[in-house]
Amino acid sequence: MQKKSRIFVTGHRGLVGSALIRKLRAEGYENLLTASRQELELRDQGLVDQWFARQRPEFVIHVAGTVGGILANSLWPADFIYDNQMIQSTVLQAAHRCDVQKLLYLGSSCIYPRDCPQPIKEDYLMTGPLEKTNQAYAIAKIAGLFSCVAYRQQHGCNFISAMPTNLYGENDNFELQDSHVLPALMRKFHEAKLASHPEVVVWGTGTPRREFLHVHDLASACLFLMKNYDEETAINVGTGTDVSIGKLAEMIRDVVYPSAKIVFDTEKPDGTPRKVLDVSRLHRLGWQHKVDLPEGIAVTYQWYKQACLA
Ligand SMILES: NC(=O)c1ccc[n+]([C@@H]2O[C@H](COP(=O)([O-])OP(=O)(O)OC[C@H]3O[C@@H](n4cnc5c(N)ncnc54)[C@H](OP(=O)(O)O)[C@@H]3O)[C@@H](O)[C@H]2O)c1
Repeated sequence: MQKKSRIFVTGHRGLVGSALIRKLRAEGYENLLTASRQELELRDQGLVDQWFARQRPEFVIHVAGTVGGILANSLWPADFIYDNQMIQSTVLQAAHRCDVQKLLYLGSSCIYPRDCPQPIKEDYLMTGPLEKTNQAYAIAKIAGLFSCVAYRQQHGCNFISAMPTNLYGENDNFELQDSHVLPALMRKFHEAKLASHPEVVVWGTGTPRREFLHVHDLASACLFLMKNYDEETAINVGTGTDVSIGKLAEMIRDVVYPSAKIVFDTEKPDGTPRKVLDVSRLHRLGWQHKVDLPEGIAVTYQWYKQACLA
């Protein structure tokens, strides 16, 4: 990938896409192609084909998708399976037709089997039943991974896939109905502080363990993979370390509202008991994350406070 290459980042206004644009600009890539949903509906093959024929991207980092936490996944499974399958199918097909040199597709750690051994190795994909609460999303994302393999096998396309762990950072979704656990907790603590409310309710028992990667690090990993990885197997991207939801809540409380009391709502679902990726393959290739969780939470909260004021 050269500094003048035409690089299309789908979903550039979202959490991952915006971090990628910042990273690519910082690295001196000059020809970044973007299209908002209003400019290009990615579920429409005709529109996507026309756009690719006009813009002629040479590289594609495909991150657009319908994404959300446990509540959104259980409320709108049809949207999750339809949108994600459509969006990825149109982009992969257009990338093949337009002879894109390389495409990176993002899977997700939540598409591994619910009860697979920990830490999760790449080989565990499709070895057991999925977590029920995000099954529709997971099936769509698995179809995306196998689509990359199919285009590679049938047409020789250099389509690679990465499996990021839970992400957070600037431009995350802080809406309580469809956000992930970290931004949802940050918002709850922030609003409790503004209202001088002494308690914050955290969903579930607080015992499930999760891994979190700052989106700056994910963007750096994506660029690294575009330069250094050409294999068929989807590769894990994470920190390789996990933390309980209870501990995460304490970390966020300490940054946002130190005097708040944490109350667990044990009637709410916990989801998968533990989820941490084995990132040894990526480490062996030479990439490691840089932003630790307490630092990432503090930076993200600074951004969130400013976004709230804007
Ligand atoms: N967030 C995580 O923790 C996480 C973890 C692992 C993997 N991932 C993967 O990372 C990718 C990006 O996630 P994210 O968190 O950045 O999501 P996000 O913040 O919700 O951003 C999604 C982006 O996709 C665009 N988009 C959605 N539907 C579209 C459509 N029909 N046509 C055109 N654009 C559309 C959105 O455009 P608008 O801005 O116009 O709405 C938005 O820019 C996804 O593939 C997800 O599976 C995310």
